[in-house]
Amino acid sequence: MFDVEGTVSIVTGALGGIGRELVRSLLSNKAKGVALLDLNDAQAAEFQASLEKEFGANKTLFLKVDVTDLENVKGAFKKCVDHFGNLDIVVNNAGIIGNIEMVIKINLLALIQISNLAFFDYLPKYRKGNEGVIINIGSVGGLYPFHILPDYCASKHGVVAYTQALGSNVHYQNTQVKVMGLCPGGTDTEIFKGVPEYYQQFMKDTDHAIQQTEIVGDALIKVLKEGSNGSIWISKNSEPAFEFDYKSETLPILLKHVS
Ligand SMILES: NC(=O)c1ccc[n+]([C@@H]2O[C@H](COP(=O)([O-])OP(=O)(O)OC[C@H]3O[C@@H](n4cnc5c(N)ncnc54)[C@H](O)[C@@H]3O)[C@@H](O)[C@H]2O)c1
Repeated sequence: MFDVEGTVSIVTGALGGIGRELVRSLLSNKAKGVALLDLNDAQAAEFQASLEKEFGANKTLFLKVDVTDLENVKGAFKKCVDHFGNLDIVVNNAGIIGNIEMVIKINLLALIQISNLAFFDYLPKYRKGNEGVIINIGSVGGLYPFHILPDYCASKHGVVAYTQALGSNVHYQNTQVKVMGLCPGGTDTEIFKGVPEYYQQFMKDTDHAIQQTEIVGDALIKVLKEGSNGSIWISKNSEPAFEFDYKSETLPILLKHVS
């Protein structure tokens, strides 16, 4: 079983609603350090101070990074290993709803580029243990036709497909890096502020249970500990995370939301 204790992670979108809980979960499971990558630095110092109070000094490194700028991302990976000495886990969490081009660039293209950087260059070289791990944050909207946000849905289907393909064991044999996906359902964050006007009426008409961000933080640890390479996990309706299985009744359950 993968052990978070002593590991170093990079989390993108770390200052967002879900990102903050992912970071807290890693630190509360005795991670050695977490590099917090985010475009938004407004509350970085405050967030780091609260983590220091809760988990002790020198556990985090904030790096202002636009995930769509690969050179910027490469610089951040280097700073992370220079600072902490190792790198074991990369969580691609940055994501938006809104401008179509940015949705594809941030949610899918950047996630693929960062995964490749982690998979081929960093995790095989800098992990402390036998395995490195990449966790890609998808969405339940990446598992069924989520009519409320078609472009976001397309980007997240791409995340799931890419994660399963890179998570094939033929790749694992070469790198000993696991690649897994975690798909949250509706979660209480600021992301819905980006919903374009036309789609807002569908949001109002849909009965979505909104969970608290802590649920996704707990789900991350479950996936890290129990997940097999290429597996896709769901964290929704405040339930413990469970693995998505195309062959089981999971898909019809999700499709019930489609009207
Ligand atoms: N909240 C939900 O209901 C929900 C459901 C399913 C999936 N998700 C996914 O969870 C992830 C986190 O979303 P959230 O709900 O916490 O949203 P959020 O808006 O609270 O946080 C997103 C974070 O990403 C950062 N970010 C945006 N663009 C960036 C860029 N170019 N470079 C670096 N950082 C950037 C933002 O500054 C922000 O801190 C996303 O991938 C989202 O698609 C969220």
